[in-house]
This record gives sequence, C-alpha cells and structure tokens, in this order.
Amino acid sequence: MVEQKLVIEGGRRLQGEIQIQGAKNSVLPLLAATVLCKGEAVLHNCPRLTDADAAFRILDCLGCKCSREKSVITVNAEQMSNNHVPDALTREMRSSIVFLGAILGRCGHCRWSMPGGCQIGQRPIGFHLYALKRMGVVVENDGGFMDCTAPKGIQGAKISLPFPSVGATENIMLAAVTAKGRTEIHNAAREPEVVDLAEFLNKCGAKVTGAGGSTIVIEGVEKLSGGEHTVIPDRIVTATYMCCAAITRGELLLTKTKHDDLSPVFPIFEKMGCSVYCFDKDRIYVNARKAMVSPGKIVTHVHPGFPTDSQPLLMALTSVLSGTTIFEETIFESRFNHAPELIRLGAKIDVIERVAIVEWVERLSGANVRAFDLRGGAALVTAALACEGVTKISEIHYIDRGYEAIEEVLRSVGANIKRK
Ligand code: EPZ
Repeated sequence: MVEQKLVIEGGRRLQGEIQIQGAKNSVLPLLAATVLCKGEAVLHNCPRLTDADAAFRILDCLGCKCSREKSVITVNAEQMSNNHVPDALTREMRSSIVFLGAILGRCGHCRWSMPGGCQIGQRPIGFHLYALKRMGVVVENDGGFMDCTAPKGIQGAKISLPFPSVGATENIMLAAVTAKGRTEIHNAAREPEVVDLAEFLNKCGAKVTGAGGSTIVIEGVEKLSGGEHTVIPDRIVTATYMCCAAITRGELLLTKTKHDDLSPVFPIFEKMGCSVYCFDKDRIYVNARKAMVSPGKIVTHVHPGFPTDSQPLLMALTSVLSGTTIFEETIFESRFNHAPELIRLGAKIDVIERVAIVEWVERLSGANVRAFDLRGGAALVTAALACEGVTKISEIHYIDRGYEAIEEVLRSVGANIKRK
C-alpha cells in the first residue's frame, strides 16, 4: 500500500487553542521502567504515537500484561516471561535500547540487537555499554546482537559520562534502581524527561536523588512496586506549534504544557519579536501578529541549552524572517537533512558541516518534499503552512513517530491540511 502524504495549502493564519500531548521522549523510558515493577504501573497522558505503540509491543513480547484506554497505559510486569525481543521490533525504534537497562535490572540477562543509526547520526551506544560494564554486565557481540549477562548481578558503580547522553543516563538509572549498592552518575543528562523518569521510579519505591542536575545518585533497593504517574507535556511539540503560530503570523493558546521546560526556547522567540505569554501553570499564549526578525545565532546544546530537537522547526520559521540566521548543531553530526527540502520550498540555506546559514526570502512556494526524520518532517509541515500554493510531504511515517494526529491538530486551528 502506497504511504499517504500530508497535503497542505499554505497562507492561512493559525488561530485557536491546542492541547499539548504527553512527551514521546518521556513515555518511552517510562514504559521501559514498568519492566522493573512487581505490581501494576499506570501511566496517564501517554501520546498516541507509533513509537509508543512500538514500546507497547515490546512489553507485550516480554510477557507483560498491557492495556491502553485512550491516553492511559496500564502495565503489569509481574508475569514477565521473556527477556528477548525480535530483532525487527527493536530495530523499528532505535531508542528501544533503553529497555536494555530495565531488562538487565529485572532479569540479569538480555540479548538485544545492536540499534542501527538513523538519518541524524550514527547514534552509537558506547557510553551505555561502558556504564553497564562498570556495573558488572558482560557484553558479548554475537552477529549483530549484544548478549548481556550479569554473572554476579548488577552492582552499583561510580560512572562518569564523557557526554551527558540522555539515553545513557536513563539506561544507567534503570539498571541501577534494583542493583546491589549505590550508583553515582556524573555528567548526567539534565533533560526534563530524565527528571520525569526519576519521579516515576521513586513513586515505585526507588531511591533516586539529584535528577535534573549533573550528578544523580541511586541507592539500589530490593524490588520496585507498581505506581501511577502522569507523563510530562512534550516540550518539542510545544515549540513546534509555537513555530507554526509564528510562521503564519497567527495566535495560538497552548494548554497542558509546562513553561519551565520551554525556558531555553523563550529567549529566541523574544529576539524574533514574537509575543509569548505564560500563565496559569500550564498555558502559553503565542501572538505573532507583528513583523518578526531573525534571532541571529542559534547554537544547540544539552539541556538547559537550546534543544537540538527544536533546531529544524526554528530553521523553517527563520527562513521567512528578515535578516540572516546562523544555526550551529553541536549534538548530532548530520541533523540538517531538512535543509535541501526547505530549499525546494524556496528557502535560502547554505550548510557547511555543522553550520547552516539561513537568509531571508520574501516567500516560500509549495512543492513536493519528503521527510527524512521526525523533526525534519515537522519542519516541512511548519514551512508548508507559510507557502504559497500546495505542498505535498511524503515519508510522513517519520512525523507520526512523534506527533499525535498532527493534521487534525493543525486543522482545528485553521490550517488547510489533509492526509491522503
Ligand atoms: C534523546 O536521544 C532523544 N530521544 C532525542 O530526540 C534527542 O535529540 C537527544 O536525546 C538529545 O537531546 C529520546 O529520548 C527517545 P543522546 P539519545 O544519547 O538519548 C552521542 C527526537 O527527535 N552519543 O543524548 O539517543 C550521540 O551520537 C529525538 O525526539 C555517543 O556518542 O541522545 C549524540 O551525538 C531525536 N555515544 C549525542 O551523544 C553514546 O553512547 C547525544 O545523544 C550515546 C550518545
């Protein structure tokens, strides 16, 4: 069956209210964490995404009892009967590597396929394996699989990460919560999704302190009970819809979001001259009626710096803002695949290795383009909203990995967008 496309007729000002979905990059490690729970785990605000569906299938494959009722996922891992998942399933979503730490923590043995790279980079896992080895895990490569065993059980260890890797931090936390002894993670990732994972683990009886800072300490406990938790809002989806409001010179009220997690992004919108008001604890009002200008230079950093995941979206927006914008991508080695597709829409972008120079153009024009990855695909949707004429975006399965019903959401605030 030929995959559908997103067909967008640009030129419409967005106006209205969008409720922000739960965070993809939080629900994945949280679902992995339920493997450690000897009891029922209930996760609220789980977004309907193909990546979340893949994680759900992995849990099912492991023999966990799982059910989903709208945005609530319930998992009971007590009867978990398996610690191997088919290659096809783990390769479908490379971030499934976060199940490795959880399964090792639960079973002490796991055979997992080496995750492939993807369009934005090689995505190596050396930091994950270095840390697990320090925790007593023996890793043998066997024909594209990693055969991981912990002959003496998982031991707590002092681990210094060469880079504050989000996935490595989460994997270590999941292996450490029921390990023997204390684990310290130095140079840990500080992303909000790491904090969300720590909060859920502690609700289940773990002893994790320091999450959100650069040093996380985990005291191993005998076992985890079940627990109930609400997934944090998706900060990248929030930034995406802020860019959609801005590029159409519209105004949107974003609800059920979380101001603090957007703090690295707000200064950029202020520099562009886009009015952003935060109120209550979870509402952001974006008004882009006034003419905006380039924010100058945007450099991606680990949290609390400007998030790499928002770089493609800001590149789409700045392509129609007066002035020249310089992007420096310091996290992934090839995260500009959306640039040639934006150029097909009329953008003026030069890419030199990890730097992209975006010069203002008066208008963008609809064309046939394709998504190469999740956020690059969302950047094409953002740009298409401002194009004259019709844009057709193919390979939209990338977009469905991280955006819940993107065409319904955008149509609800005035966009002319169809999936067909
Ligand atoms: C998480 O990926 C997110 N994914 C990514 O979001 C996000 O871009 C990234 O963190 C950075 O914030 C999920 O949470 C599921 P890293 P992760 O380990 O954990 C290098 C999206 O669009 N590295 O922090 O894979 C790596 O190559 C996705 O939602 C090693 O060299 O990111 C990269 O250059 C895209 N060796 C850098 O660190 C390792 O062992 C950051 O990677 C691990 C990572």
